[in-house]
Amino acid sequence: RSIWKGLIETYRAYLPVTENTPVVTLLEGNTPLIPVPAIAAAIGKKVQVWVKYDGLNPTGSFKDRGMTMAVSKAKEEGSKAVICASTGNTSAAAAAYAKRGGLKAFVIIPDGYVALGKLAQALLYGAEVLAINGNFDQALAIVRQVSEQYPVTLVNSVNPYRLQGQKTAAFEVVDALGDAPDWLCIPVGNAGNITAYWMGFCEYHQEKKCSQLPKMMGFQAAGAAPILAGHPIEHPETLATAIRIGNPASWNQALAAQEASGGQFHAVTDEEILHAYRLLAAEEGIFCEPASASSVAGLLKVKDQVPEGAKIVCVLTGNGLKDPDTAINHSKNPCHQGIEADLKSVAAAMGFS
Ligand code: F0G
Repeated sequence: RSIWKGLIETYRAYLPVTENTPVVTLLEGNTPLIPVPAIAAAIGKKVQVWVKYDGLNPTGSFKDRGMTMAVSKAKEEGSKAVICASTGNTSAAAAAYAKRGGLKAFVIIPDGYVALGKLAQALLYGAEVLAINGNFDQALAIVRQVSEQYPVTLVNSVNPYRLQGQKTAAFEVVDALGDAPDWLCIPVGNAGNITAYWMGFCEYHQEKKCSQLPKMMGFQAAGAAPILAGHPIEHPETLATAIRIGNPASWNQALAAQEASGGQFHAVTDEEILHAYRLLAAEEGIFCEPASASSVAGLLKVKDQVPEGAKIVCVLTGNGLKDPDTAINHSKNPCHQGIEADLKSVAAAMGFS
């Protein structure tokens, strides 16, 4: 049994690093691929479904995969500070990895639209948090300009090292299953992750580590679905704030992945997202954030198209603890309050008489 040393060490041969790269790591990656039989049963066919639970990364989302690479390379290049626009998870990861590597972190977030846990992380990791009166797309436009004019490295997924790190999730899926799945279901926001997964599967396929490529099934929130609409959405809205994005930076790459793989894009409503979010928690014991549940919501939406016997992986991009407000506000399970502190009252409240 060898000890996990983080994804750069593990997949060094596939990554643009050298002995001179100072590896900034929190031992990210190596996240579990968990079978979800209740989701498979809900499809109503003989299929196998797993979730890639990337919410178990050190800062609670898949962004750590990209950030170990982006910050290591920024440090190698002598950068002293990083900047990103974020709906929350990128800011948490950028803050953690920057500090780990001894760099300063600036994060620009849409004021009022970042889940509580993510904001808490960025603050405690010591980032300079700038909340703008605008959305993610506006924040991204600003940080692109800032990084051109000032000595700060941009660590959004338009930084190619981000996708290099994130492609390792596809490697892990293949390493765990022994081959690529038939379908890969994934939430799409800024469209970096679907691009990275596709890159990972293609590289592994070229190296003959898998015999096939999955169909890439991308899911956007209905109120923030520019790829489905075919044009940018000026005012994207969804309770899945992580993917509240109207003009994805990797739009073309995501379309290319979908087309080359024979996959599809679909939009899922907030109601469908919440249904999958509750189902994962209450039936499978898996707590992810709302945006992540869109991969499962999307799979359930297109269940009639699932081939008999298919092997399907849904990516759960972030941890449910990121967004406690949504969990509490949208749980159908009440908290029984005001119970007297004695055995009789508690037993009665439990339904025992
Ligand atoms: N799921 C979660 C939990 C996310 O935080 C994001 C993106 C996505 C899915 C979509 O991934 O952008 O690569 O298509 N979050 C970014 C952020 C925008 O700032 O944290 P994508």
